[in-house]
Amino acid sequence: MTPLASAESPLVRPHVADVRQRLEALRGDGLLREDLFVDGALRPATGDARLEVTDPATGAVIARVASASGDDVLAAVEAAERARRHWAARTATDRSNVLWRWHELILEHRHDLGVLLTAEQGKPLAAAEGEVAYSAAFIRWYAEEARRAYGEIVPSNKAGRRILVTHQPVGVVGAITPWNFPSLMIARKVAPAIAAGCAVVLKPASETPLSALALAELAARAGLPPGVLNVVHGDPVEVGAVLTGDERVRLITFTGSTEIGRLLMAQSARSVKRLTLELGGNAPFIVFDDADLDAALAGAIESKYRNAGQTCVCANRILVQGGVHDELVERYAEQAAAMRVGHGLEAGVAIGPLIDEAAVRKVERHLADAAAKGARVLGGGHRHELGGTFFEPTVLVGADPSMELAGAETFGPVAPFFRFEDEEEAVELANSTESGLAAYFFTRDLGRAFRVSEGLEFGVVGVNTGAISYEGAPFGGMKQSGLGREGSRHGLEEFLETKYVCIEGIGQ
Ligand code: SIN
Repeated sequence: MTPLASAESPLVRPHVADVRQRLEALRGDGLLREDLFVDGALRPATGDARLEVTDPATGAVIARVASASGDDVLAAVEAAERARRHWAARTATDRSNVLWRWHELILEHRHDLGVLLTAEQGKPLAAAEGEVAYSAAFIRWYAEEARRAYGEIVPSNKAGRRILVTHQPVGVVGAITPWNFPSLMIARKVAPAIAAGCAVVLKPASETPLSALALAELAARAGLPPGVLNVVHGDPVEVGAVLTGDERVRLITFTGSTEIGRLLMAQSARSVKRLTLELGGNAPFIVFDDADLDAALAGAIESKYRNAGQTCVCANRILVQGGVHDELVERYAEQAAAMRVGHGLEAGVAIGPLIDEAAVRKVERHLADAAAKGARVLGGGHRHELGGTFFEPTVLVGADPSMELAGAETFGPVAPFFRFEDEEEAVELANSTESGLAAYFFTRDLGRAFRVSEGLEFGVVGVNTGAISYEGAPFGGMKQSGLGREGSRHGLEEFLETKYVCIEGIGQ
């Protein structure tokens, strides 16, 4: 059966007018913007091209933003280059104060920013508002860290010599962010960059530029000087090529696929840029026989279906030991079936639409491949009756490593269960991927908690929890999941150069 285009579905159609009305109010408040933001001002793109932003829940076009040409991106780099020295010369306390004000303004507009985010990305409003609050928490964290970029004095190896170690901002930063967290990914890159004293050219995902523009507007209202944060949305290949090709851009920070991460690395090699890359994951979620099953169940549901399964840290493979496998699968399938799918602005919705048709096709491809190789669907498995890009929360049993979904992120609401018999097998299965972002396991055995967390080749490990994200902890991957860390003091270090100053000629 051909799915209904969701905008035509009588179940979804009433939302089109509602979203339009809410967005018009935000336009009036100056939070819905469609131009580029360069050197502290909105400006049209030099060409006529525009990007259509659609509500993924209805398919309706909700905005048409300017599409930056290469010249527009260069203008943004120039503005950042002009601004960076003045910004770096401000005291850390000054920079901290601007970040504090930005954090406060974001919290004041939490609901409006949440509506904008739901409209362009699709996640339920409560999750969108949660993301906005979490973005503000990152900005607050870096408002605090801005004042703690301490240097060192190293004991000297020679009489009359002083050895100083200081930190300086790297300079202009090119930040490229994805659509799955349109606000959070900006906060965790831009806040440490400007806390460190850098200036940023931000290219948000073409699907979700509205949150970026609203955040930039609030940053300006908070007193961020012109040129310190510039927003240029446009063709990703062209914008990426200009940012990586420009020698004034000293660091590229990117969250997205491993494939694009490799491309940006290659393009950055010519000017030896620094890179922080948060790339794809393929998270194992392991439940041992000795686990607290209620906690494991709640953790697996949260980790899998958050953001409709569209996060890099989502449980992609649920590995369950033989003794508890059947009970866990049965309880999990019951809970998944009870989850409400719908437009993110409707109360009580737990799962919104997928971002686009290509995302749904990938889910369908993984399901067809798994079924052909012997997996069984216990619940869901189809496009949702709402049509469009809505998909049923799906549970699969009998998954094995030969299946496509074992080797690559599904990025959708599909929970495949793998069965294992002992600890060694679980760790080997978990590590049998080129990705190394997040992993989770549940056990009550303290020795096992240490052994397994040490054995897992992942940058982030959750023990007895499916929710690991926190602005004060370092987030990032091993192996092909990336380079560098975001969050915590380590996230600030990414944007700082270390300088050694050796002083002589000043006496003993
Ligand atoms: C992601 O990177 O996709 C998830 C980020 C988070 O949960 O903090």
